Amino acid sequence: MTQQTRANGSLRHLLTLEGLGRPQLEALLARAQKFVKPVGEPPVQAQSLAGVTVANMFTEPSTRTRVSFELAAKRLGADVVNLEVQLSSRVKGESMLDTIYTLEACHVDVFVIRDAESGVPGLVAANVKPHVSVLSAGEAHVSHPTQGLLDALTILQAKNRFDGLKVAIVGDVRHSRVARSAWHVLTALGVGEIRVVAPRGLMPEAGEFIGCERFTSIEGGIAGVDVVMMLRIQKERMAAAQIPDADRYFAKYGLSAERLARAKPDAIVMHPQPMNRGIEIASDVADGPQSVIRDQVRNGVAVRMAVLEAVIEGRG
Ligand code: CP
Repeated sequence: MTQQTRANGSLRHLLTLEGLGRPQLEALLARAQKFVKPVGEPPVQAQSLAGVTVANMFTEPSTRTRVSFELAAKRLGADVVNLEVQLSSRVKGESMLDTIYTLEACHVDVFVIRDAESGVPGLVAANVKPHVSVLSAGEAHVSHPTQGLLDALTILQAKNRFDGLKVAIVGDVRHSRVARSAWHVLTALGVGEIRVVAPRGLMPEAGEFIGCERFTSIEGGIAGVDVVMMLRIQKERMAAAQIPDADRYFAKYGLSAERLARAKPDAIVMHPQPMNRGIEIASDVADGPQSVIRDQVRNGVAVRMAVLEAVIEGRG
């Protein structure tokens, strides 16, 4: 695995949350919290990335991650380039690394990469110049580290602690990079109990999510929890025959208000979005008083500001 930290201990790349320690994670969350402002107030603006160039390179669709990385970089004073991969010379056969070397020659300092293939952010990180950083914006089913951080920040804001919490991760866990990053970060931050709740066909492999109790019933899985983290069905990672019927899925695994009543009365409801309303979550729950889904989006900008600032600050 590519080394994510520099010899001085600072964060250089963010490819995964696996292996990051509690102090490093808490420092990133504390830095991100300083960038959080209520929606309706002017956002935090700074110049800590003045003279820095950030390139967003997304080969899978994105709304939240791409927009929030762009806003995060601009609010810290960086120049930002969004490479339209489908309109780039990649379609003429140029390799990923030749594209990276080209942008490096244009003084790009930070590459933000989303790719459907596992290993791509790590490959880029292993081949860039020493002053350059690579941030994963979602790697196949493997990892979505800034999503994990924003999920952790949202839980901390709502519960003011990690110790002793019970968290249920519900839905298509097998194909979910969000679930894997949540598991890494919440385990490192000391969450007491993490449950995996999924139909048998969407359960992760037996060697994954070590230490999590597994439930095939949502009723049992969310009983008494503090946090219900719903996941999207990742149709793009399934063969046609594997895609569950929407009505049957909602009937067995959808989060309705009636089911949510099994969690603690002050439980929060999370979803990384995009949501399939009426399939994994009912609209009245997604928009209801226990939902922190829009807080997650707001926190996404703050977390990406924190990560960008940390990797640039660490260059010295
Ligand atoms: N949660 C998330 O990654 O959303 P996008 O795919 O819209 O970036």
